[in-house]
Amino acid sequence: MLSKYVVLGGQRLAGAVAVSGSKNAALPMMAAALLARGATVLRNVPDLSDVRLMAEILESLGCRVSLFPEPGVVVIDVVDESPVVAPYELVSEMRASFCVLGPLLARRGEAHVSQPGGCTLGERPVDLHVKGIQAIGSEVSFHRGNVIAKGRPRGGRVYLGGAMGPSVTGTANVMCAAVLGSGVTIIDQAACEPEIANLAAMLNSMGARIFGGGTSRLVINGVNELHATDFSIIPDRIECGTFIAAAAITRGDITIERCDPDVLSAVFDKCVEMGIELMRVDDHTLRARCERRPRATDLVTLPYPGFPTDLQSPFMSVLCTAQGYGVVEEKIYPERYMHVPEYRRLGADIRKQYATCIVTGVEQLSGAPAASTDLRAGAGLVLMGLAAQGETQVLKIEHIDRGYEKFHEKLAALGATIKRVDYRPARREEDKRRLAA
Ligand code: EPU
Repeated sequence: MLSKYVVLGGQRLAGAVAVSGSKNAALPMMAAALLARGATVLRNVPDLSDVRLMAEILESLGCRVSLFPEPGVVVIDVVDESPVVAPYELVSEMRASFCVLGPLLARRGEAHVSQPGGCTLGERPVDLHVKGIQAIGSEVSFHRGNVIAKGRPRGGRVYLGGAMGPSVTGTANVMCAAVLGSGVTIIDQAACEPEIANLAAMLNSMGARIFGGGTSRLVINGVNELHATDFSIIPDRIECGTFIAAAAITRGDITIERCDPDVLSAVFDKCVEMGIELMRVDDHTLRARCERRPRATDLVTLPYPGFPTDLQSPFMSVLCTAQGYGVVEEKIYPERYMHVPEYRRLGADIRKQYATCIVTGVEQLSGAPAASTDLRAGAGLVLMGLAAQGETQVLKIEHIDRGYEKFHEKLAALGATIKRVDYRPARREEDKRRLAA
């Protein structure tokens, strides 16, 4: 059985919504629990399919994982430190599982992790992860689709800048690989994303000595051992941005609670240009209001603190209904436009050329069946459905389940007419599943 969202457009969203913990902080932190003996407690963890998958991977690596004994709590207890192979069947389901490479290597001296393939965002290589791990003294080879890293890191100088900027999970992997041992590691062009700063803080709470988390230069003094920790994860800035886009596209008024306004400067900047009112209520609360049709603007995705690629599709949805036209340039994943044909199904006017789209706002979108092509694209499609006339069915919502906790419940509480419906896949889909089983 699969599930889809059925959305009836035309409701203005209003009220308060609380943001969940950050998926992209939670996943590398779960992997980092491998670095300590004993039970690491993570708080404010979102209940997502990606989190559950990471738990399965950790179980296959000798951890006992207790998922949500209390809301938001995940406990990871390392009980067997002998496994070093992350199984292909699980790893191939989620790229972030590559984050176990660094912790396994640092703690167990060896790691075999399946080499991630391409995905709907494009090619997504791991050369920067590999280069970084080699630069701190481990050996890396490739065998039958696996990346095999051997030899405890000794420290060294690492440059993580790639053609598309620094790598976020690459920084996480090299940082985790470098925390144990007697060496000193300096990472230049490290990713500055808040999720990396949060991971560095978590590692420091385990006894690591990392300086410069959240800046482009990380200095890591290796330590002999790390202890388990009890650590709370930052709010999900991408979920927060998605609710801002929801307020804009429905001409709504949403108070977004338990968020961090300080990490959203690029989004604030775009909201000013688009005529979306974004008010900081306090250190953890934002109010997003949009009473008129937003103005179109240009968007360029960049590494943090630039406009996040993960908000490109939700904000493209807003541009689809804005006044005028805006140019969207994707500088992180030039191919992250699989959603464009789906958005067009609802009447969007988007012209695409290479990594650029020209989006001309239309006065009224019209509901249609369409499919999520990735997690953020799926969220953007739901937003389009909220603004469209009539019914929109959003298929393949398993993508959305990967990264938005209780998405439709939160939208419904704000006044959206949205329900989740199970359906039997068309026969061809069923045959494909049987063959894959
Ligand atoms: N890249 C390389 N070589 C590498 C690694 C990356 O060339 O070895 C390139 C990528 O192809 C891309 C750019 O560098 O063009 C940035 O990729 P990065 O490695 O930073 O992405 P990631 O770490 O795999 C994380 C998030 C993504 C988010 C990106 C960019 C997690 C688990 N995932 O991915 O989140 O889009 O950073 O900010 O943290 C999402 O949540 O929907 C999502 C896709």
